Amino acid sequence: MNEIGELFFSGKAKDVYSHENKDYVIIKFRDDITAGDGEKKDNLKGKGECNSLISSKLFEILEENGLSTQYIELIEPGVILSKKLDMIPLEVILRNIATGSLIKKFPFREKQDINPPIIQMDFKNDEYHDPMLNDDIIIALEIAKKEELNQIRKITLKINAILSEFLKNVGVLLVDFKLEFGKDIMGNITLGDEISPDTCRFWNITTFETLDKDLFRKGEGDVMNVYREVCKLIVSEEDLKRWGIEPL
Ligand code: TMP
Ligand code: ASP
Repeated sequence: MNEIGELFFSGKAKDVYSHENKDYVIIKFRDDITAGDGEKKDNLKGKGECNSLISSKLFEILEENGLSTQYIELIEPGVILSKKLDMIPLEVILRNIATGSLIKKFPFREKQDINPPIIQMDFKNDEYHDPMLNDDIIIALEIAKKEELNQIRKITLKINAILSEFLKNVGVLLVDFKLEFGKDIMGNITLGDEISPDTCRFWNITTFETLDKDLFRKGEGDVMNVYREVCKLIVSEEDLKRWGIEPL
């Protein structure tokens, strides 16, 4: 039924395979982890499964709240059946708290609250090192139209509200995150890619401890242990049962 077809795209941490239904794809989460445009690399056993479960749960929450996403179902840990999208080469970043590259580029204080949040759009292009864009550049490069950018911003703010609330209730602060969008077969803007500790900054809500890929970027702590902890906070035993997966 969900037989894996041919590999047609391989990213830094995921592979995309065709599906017998040409409107679908199968996304396989690998254990590879990279930073600095792929300069720093490692392989963390179990990371792919872990991120696929976290991403499935968060996409399900967004769908329950009426947002259109690429997610169809978790086939098995590490493997997600998804809608095929024509991806828009933007990294849409939302920041609730100043940290990371923002404080390197601009005079924000580390941990400064940003309210209303900042939405930043970077060009998803390793060759050009993902430079920050503005609307005029995006439109001139024909990456997206003005109305599409407005729609993407609206959806991103909604995602922030929904996920911040859910994560707060499991003790996680959503500091910032990166989204990728694409167009489905009807041309509708749809959330794609993943939402996981690889693509978000998650902090412990009381201690502000790092619970994400920053540990790997900075070479600190047991990255996989923390990813497993985050997975347990986000994915409940009921979710696992529903997906037919053994307790973690
Ligand atoms: P930054 O502060 O390094 O610009 O990162 C902002 C957010 O985007 C953070 O949640 C991590 C995420 N991110 C990615 O998902 N992929 C990337 O390549 C980079 C640089 C950041
Ligand atoms: N995604 C980037 C890379 O793989 C790095 C990052 O997330 O910091 O190189």
